Amino acid sequence: MSYPVAPARLEGAGYTIVEDASLATRNTLRVAARASLLIDVRDTQALPEVLAFPLVKSSPLFVLGGGSNVLFTRDYPGTVLSLASRGIQICAERDGVATVRAAAGENWNDLVNWTIAHGLCGLENLALIPGTVGAAPIQNIGAYGTEVREFVESVDVFDRHSMSAMRLSRADCEFAYRDSRFKRAPERYIVTGVDFALPRSREWRLDYSGVREEIAALGVESINAASIAEAITRLRLRKLPNPEVIGNAGSFFKNPVIDAAPAARLRSAYPALPQWPADAGRVKLSAAWLIETSGLKGFRDGDAGVSAQHALVLVNHGTASGARLWALAQQVRDTVRQRFDVTLDAEPVVI
Ligand code: EPU
Repeated sequence: MSYPVAPARLEGAGYTIVEDASLATRNTLRVAARASLLIDVRDTQALPEVLAFPLVKSSPLFVLGGGSNVLFTRDYPGTVLSLASRGIQICAERDGVATVRAAAGENWNDLVNWTIAHGLCGLENLALIPGTVGAAPIQNIGAYGTEVREFVESVDVFDRHSMSAMRLSRADCEFAYRDSRFKRAPERYIVTGVDFALPRSREWRLDYSGVREEIAALGVESINAASIAEAITRLRLRKLPNPEVIGNAGSFFKNPVIDAAPAARLRSAYPALPQWPADAGRVKLSAAWLIETSGLKGFRDGDAGVSAQHALVLVNHGTASGARLWALAQQVRDTVRQRFDVTLDAEPVVI
C-alpha cells in the first residue's frame, strides 16, 4: 500500500498549483482550513492562463493577500489565488509628488519603509499594518487618522468579466471606511498592483490619541516620516496583539457608523462611549468600548477568544476552528446588540 507524501503539485511559468492545500500558514488567525486548489502567482502575466484552467473556471475563486483579514469558517471548495508578484519603483515625479508603483505581492510594511527611505511621506501613519500591498485598497486600510485611499492614485486589476487587465482611478475604486469596489465584488477583480501619489513633504497627522505622546517619548529632535512610523510601530506593538505571537486578524469588527439621533441618545446614556464624526452627519462609535463594556474583553470559549489586550480583536489561543471563532463573533455581536441596540459588522472577509 502506498501513501501519498505530498499533495499534487504543478509548476507553471510564473505560478505554482497545489491540490488540497493547507491554508493554516496562510491566514493570521491560524485556522487549519484547506483549499481544493491553491495557486501562487509570481508573474501576473500568467493570470489569463491560470484563470482559463477548466477546474479554476468552474469553481469559486478567492484571492488571498497576506491572510490577515480573512476568516475561513470551513474548507474552501474552490481556488485560492495568492499573488506573489514583487517590485516597487518610482515611475514619475512632478511638483514634489512621486508616483510609486508597487506589485500586489509586496509586504505592506516593507513598502512603507521603502517609501520613507526614498524621502517620501504619506504612509507613515500606516506603518506595521499586516498584509500585502494588493490587499490594502480592497479594505481601504486605515490607522491613526489616515486611510490609504488618500494616497492611492490608481489600482491595477485583472478583471475576470472582461478577462483583461485594467487600471482604475481612485474615484473608480469607490472607497469608503474599510470598504471599496473590490471588496464588494471579490469574484471579479484581482488587484495586481497599486500606484501611490506620495509627496516629498506634508503636514504631519499627529492628532490621533496617543501619537504625540509616543513621539515625545522617542525623544527625537525633529519629527519626520521615519520617527512617526517608529512611534506608530511602538504604539501598535503595545496596543494590539501581535499576529506573530497569537493568531488574530486585527480588528474583527468595524467601528459602527450610526445616525445622529441614536448616537445622541447613546451619548447621554453613556458619556464615556467614544464617538467620532463620520460622513454625511453620521457618527462612528468605538466598537472596542461597546464590547469591553459588555464584559467580553478577555472572554474565552475554548481556544477562541476576545483579546484581553484590545476588545476589538478576536484571537486564536491555539487550535480554534474557524467555525468556533465565527460562533464567538456571533455571540459578541448578539451581546452588544442586546445591550446597546447597535449592530457590529465583521471587518474581515468571512468565508
Ligand atoms: N477601547 C476600549 N477597549 C479596548 C480598546 C479600545 O474601550 O479594549 C476604546 C478606547 O476608548 C480607545 C478607543 O476605543 O480610545 C479607540 O481605540 P483604538 O485607538 O485602539 O482604535 P479602534 O477604533 O479600536 C481603529 C482601527 C484599527 C486601528 C486603530 C488605530 C477599525 C475597525 N479599527 O481601532 O485598525 O489600528 O483604530 O487607528 O477601524 C484593523 O483595522 O485591523 C485595525 C487594527
